[in-house]
Amino acid sequence: MYKSFYNLTRNPFDITPDPTCFVATVRHNEALAALYYGIRRHKGVVVVTGEVGTGKTLMVRCLLQLFKESSEIAYAYLFNCRLSAMEFLHYTASDFGLKVSEQQNKSSLLLDLSRYVTSRGLQGLTTVLVVDEAHNLSMELLEEIRLLSNLETNDDKLLQIVLVGQPELDLKLDSFELRPLKQRIALRAHLAPLDEQDTDRYIQERLAIAGGGFRDEPLFSPDAVKTIHRYSRGFPRLINTICENSLITGYAQQVSEITSEIVSGVASDFHLTQNGSKIAHNAPNHVDQDLERARSFSLDLYAATQKANGAGSELNPPITVEAGGHESDI
Ligand SMILES: Nc1ncnc2c1ncn2[C@@H]1O[C@H](COP(=O)(O)OP(=O)(O)O)[C@@H](O)[C@H]1O
Ligand SMILES: [Mg+2]
Repeated sequence: MYKSFYNLTRNPFDITPDPTCFVATVRHNEALAALYYGIRRHKGVVVVTGEVGTGKTLMVRCLLQLFKESSEIAYAYLFNCRLSAMEFLHYTASDFGLKVSEQQNKSSLLLDLSRYVTSRGLQGLTTVLVVDEAHNLSMELLEEIRLLSNLETNDDKLLQIVLVGQPELDLKLDSFELRPLKQRIALRAHLAPLDEQDTDRYIQERLAIAGGGFRDEPLFSPDAVKTIHRYSRGFPRLINTICENSLITGYAQQVSEITSEIVSGVASDFHLTQNGSKIAHNAPNHVDQDLERARSFSLDLYAATQKANGAGSELNPPITVEAGGHESDI
């Protein structure tokens, strides 16, 4: 309803972690580049932490999108960490495309996995295990992951392991029992909430991706953007909720500009305070459902963003990282 009123082609603030909506903010860019660098350089274990709603799952999906475009990278993607050790090994092996049978025992699964990873490593190929929601991993699974991280030659780590989770993951990794895994972490990145400038850029780019990039006056007034930042504290999921509800209110009032007053009204409806938020924790977790669909998405990140933004747009420039001794665009 508000889409046509504001000349938008799609919902600009949908909270689905859709790579076509990815905004390369400074923080997301840095974390994504660190991940990609760690993997291409075969660093071994890479950890990314961030609070709920900072964009970790979306970043992981962008990373998987990049993997799909490379014939040299194979990955297994684990998004449900509440598994037994056997279920974990079964899932991982079959996600790598190995034939696994129900009857297969643990040692046989481990043997298959290590043969697969080693043979790829010897061919100079990259094999990655990506775990989202890794703060939910049990000690048992973390120990299995540590054992997999032992797959190495004298000069190369054969399995790259990416652990992404909430800050509790760091606490787990600090525990005494997990010292051996902690010692194997080669790179760490933290996804912080957006600052005011990035919040502004985030809002403008999400609007542009939804077809709302060509207006004489900004749809959200500069004061409205400041207010959104104060109430959301820079958490993208919360920014989305505030922006979407502000557009609904703006449409109900038939106004062409979203003002700071509209934003404050929405924040008050959601019982948000300027220093903290209730809905950050109470908002329905759409991500769980989305994670179920994670395996099926197949979008070309750059082609899709280019298309959405218009060819030649600089809205989402490729991230440049040093990889394999060369500067390469990812
Ligand atoms: N860099 C970004 N570009 C576009 N949207 C983002 C970005 N970061 C976060 N979001 C939005 O915020 C929502 C929450 O992100 P998500 O990846 O689910 O967070 P987390 O996994 O950290 O809880 C996403 O669905 C997406 O709509
Ligand atoms: Mg997530």
